[in-house]
Amino acid sequence: MSETSAAAAPSGQTPSEGGARRGAAYDSAFLRAARREPVPHTPVWFMRQAGRSLPEYLKVREGIPMLDSCMMPELVKEITLQPVRRHKVDAAIFFSDIVVPLKAVGIDVDIKPGIGPVIADPIRTVEDLQRLRPLEPDDMPYITEAVGMLVEELGATPLIGFAGAPFTLASYLVEGGPSKSHEKTKAMMYGQPELWAALVDRLADITAAFLKIQIEAGASAVQLFDSWVGALAPDDYRRSVMPASSKVFDAVAGYGVPRIHFGVGTGELLPLMSQAGADVVGVDWRVPLNVAAERVGPGKALQGNLDPAVLYAPTHVVETKAREVLHAAQSLGGSGHIFNLGHGVMPSMDPDALTRLVAFVHEATER
Ligand code: CP3
Repeated sequence: MSETSAAAAPSGQTPSEGGARRGAAYDSAFLRAARREPVPHTPVWFMRQAGRSLPEYLKVREGIPMLDSCMMPELVKEITLQPVRRHKVDAAIFFSDIVVPLKAVGIDVDIKPGIGPVIADPIRTVEDLQRLRPLEPDDMPYITEAVGMLVEELGATPLIGFAGAPFTLASYLVEGGPSKSHEKTKAMMYGQPELWAALVDRLADITAAFLKIQIEAGASAVQLFDSWVGALAPDDYRRSVMPASSKVFDAVAGYGVPRIHFGVGTGELLPLMSQAGADVVGVDWRVPLNVAAERVGPGKALQGNLDPAVLYAPTHVVETKAREVLHAAQSLGGSGHIFNLGHGVMPSMDPDALTRLVAFVHEATER
C-alpha cells in the first residue's frame, strides 16, 4: 500500500505532507475497522478520554483556562498523548474543543468550568449572522502545529480530528450557552427558517474548514459531534439540519479518511445520520448495536456503545456489559466495530476501570 493511496488527497491536489504522515497508521486496527476490514482485535477508544478523569491532566492544566490550553501546541500534544500512554487505546483524539473554530473567527466565547461554552453576544438576527465570517487556514496555526507534532509522535497510532456539527454549534450560539430544551434554537429553526438555514450553512463551512485543517496536518480520521441533535424529530432533522451536516461530510469526502458521525439520543435519527454521509456511525447506549446496524443500513461501520455509567459498577459487571456490546456487534460480521462508550468519559470516573476495560476488549476479541 503506497503512502499516497493510504490517504488520497482530493482530486486535482497533490498529496499533502499530512497524507504521507498518515501512512504509518494506515494498517492500525482502528482504521481497518473503520474501513470494515479484518482486524487483529476490536479497536477501542473513548470519547473524552483526555480530561478531568486523569490526574496527570489536572496537573498540566492547573491555572490555564480551557480555551487558552487549546492554543498551546506542546500542551495539546501532552494532553492528547496522556490517555494513549495510560490506557493503551487504539486511537488518540485531538485535544481541543468544538467552540475553538468559533473563537478563531472572532466570536466571544468562553468555556466556564462545570457549565460549558458561554457566548457573550448570542446570534439571533440577520445582523448577528454577519459576525460569523469564514474560517481561513491561517486562523489556526496552533492547530496545524499541534496535529503535526502529534502525528510525528504517535507513529502507527491514528489521530482522530473532530469538530462540532452545525446543529450543536448553532445551539450554543443561539442560546448563548448550554441548554436542555434548545427553545431559542428551535424558535429560530421553526419561526425564521431562512435565517436558520443561513446560520447552519455558515457553520457547515466553518466546520468543514476546521476538519480540513486537521486532515491536511495529518489526522487520519474525523468525527463530527452532533451531541445535542437527538432533541429533534426525524422530519425536522431531514429538513433543517441534514443539508448542513451533509455539506460538511461532502467537503472532506475526497481525502479518503474515515468520517465518524455521532450524537446522543439519536436512536430515531440513525437512518438519516447515516444517509447524511458517514463511514462510521456512533451509537449511544440506548440502541443495541445489532438494532443500530439495521437502522444505519449496509456499508457502514459502527462505533459504541457501552453506557458510561456502567464504569461505576464492579469490574465483573463492566465485563459482562462489555461482552454484551461485543456480542451485539457480531451482527456486523466480524469487522466494522469500534468499541467506545455511548457518550464521553465522566470526570469522576476511575481511570483504572477504563484501562482494565481496554485490556478486556482486546483480550476478548483477539483473533
Ligand atoms: O478526549 C477528548 O475527547 C478531548 C477533546 C474534546 C474536548 N471537548 C475537551 C474538553 C472533545 C472531543 C470535546 C468536544 C465537545 N465539547 C463536545 C462534543 C462531545 C460531547 O461530549 O458530546 C461538546 C458538546 C463540547 C462543549 C463543551 N466543552 C462542554 C459541554 C464542556 C464541559 C464543561 C464542564 O466543565 O463540564 C467543555 C469543556 C471541555 N472540553 C473540557 C474538556 C476536557 C473540560 C474542561 C476542563 O477540563 O477544564
